[in-house]
Amino acid sequence: MGNGTSLVVIVVTLANIAGCLWLIWWTSRTRPDEASQGNTTGHVWDGDLSEYNNPMPRWWLGLFLLTIVFGFLYLALYPGLGSFTGVNGWSQISQYEEEVRQADARTSALYEPLAKLSVTELADNRQAMAAARNLFANNCSTCHGSDARGARSFPNLTDKDWLWGGAPETIEQTILNGRVGVMPALGAALGNEGTEQVVAYVLSLSGHKAPADWVEQGKQRFSTLCAACHGPDAKGNPLLGAPNLTDDVWLYGGSPAVLRETVTVGRNNAMPAHKPLLGETKVRLLAGYVYGLSRGDHDNAKSGEGEREKGHERE
Ligand code: HEC
Ligand code: HEC
Repeated sequence: MGNGTSLVVIVVTLANIAGCLWLIWWTSRTRPDEASQGNTTGHVWDGDLSEYNNPMPRWWLGLFLLTIVFGFLYLALYPGLGSFTGVNGWSQISQYEEEVRQADARTSALYEPLAKLSVTELADNRQAMAAARNLFANNCSTCHGSDARGARSFPNLTDKDWLWGGAPETIEQTILNGRVGVMPALGAALGNEGTEQVVAYVLSLSGHKAPADWVEQGKQRFSTLCAACHGPDAKGNPLLGAPNLTDDVWLYGGSPAVLRETVTVGRNNAMPAHKPLLGETKVRLLAGYVYGLSRGDHDNAKSGEGEREKGHERE
């Protein structure tokens, strides 16, 4: 808050309090003209009906004064008067930080013995996986789904099909540092016919029907334009996050229309780095959890509270 703003806030706050005090004083006094009217407002209805005008009871005014005293005490102790922070030095942020510190101290007792375990050891540790399930629900399920089966553009983490690789350390790296998958837009390079041919070839790779001559020409184009990233056999390249195109598992969809879109306009997808958010131990726990899911440890996902398991079916 700038000095000017601060001053305005202070003046307005104090003026309001002064206004309240004046109002109390004004309503509590007995006015001389009223005294002469015998304690009534002076209004007369129906010839003889008049209205008493008694000052407010003292105890009631006392309560008002108490709230004003409280107001002053509050403004002295806590932030409220412009940029004056209060003699206590209390702030929302310092209170939040203190609570985080206390929570960290409580949870570090839980995580400390786990910090030395490897991803696979963690995957076998029931207590670690119980904690990891909660971490997943809080940090990952917004994108990957509460059952980790993903959605369009968010990969399924329960299968054995990987963009970046499913080795325990690779999963850990993915979560620690994030990943960016970029599929370039190739519509201009391919032209309309070329796009149709290459789409036909990609369809044929996962066993879908496509016109044979297009498939043949699409294959040629694939080896010049696509193989560098997706591999000569189209089985993908985990170093680039280029998916396997032969297994009929799709991140965006395997219909001709979606394939055409992918090839024409490209795709750009990011898994955020979680090291800054969660730290290494929690990330390793999550790597163990994801590794366990892909290995078919549905017990890990099943041993928890009801809600989340409904979507789980054994494959
Ligand atoms: C903001 C959304 C978002 C959040 C939150 C998120 N992810 Fe991801 N994640 C993605 C996207 C998108 C990809 C795919 C990146 C790509 O296309 O290369 C991905 C990829 C992955 C992969 C690689 C999958 C593969 O096939 O190689 C793993 C493992 C993963 N996420 C685990 C997690 C875990 C564990 C968490 C929680 C700590 C998490 N993600 C949180 C969006 C997210
Ligand atoms: C520079 C490397 C690169 C080139 C060249 C490239 N791709 Fe890709 N492609 C990728 C990456 C990386 C992804 C994953 C994008 C993501 O994570 O969102 C991808 C995704 C795709 C997908 C989506 C798969 C799914 O599961 O939905 C298709 C289809 C595809 N590419 C086909 C092609 C075809 C056909 C060509 C050649 C015309 C091609 N790609 C050229 C890197 C490449």
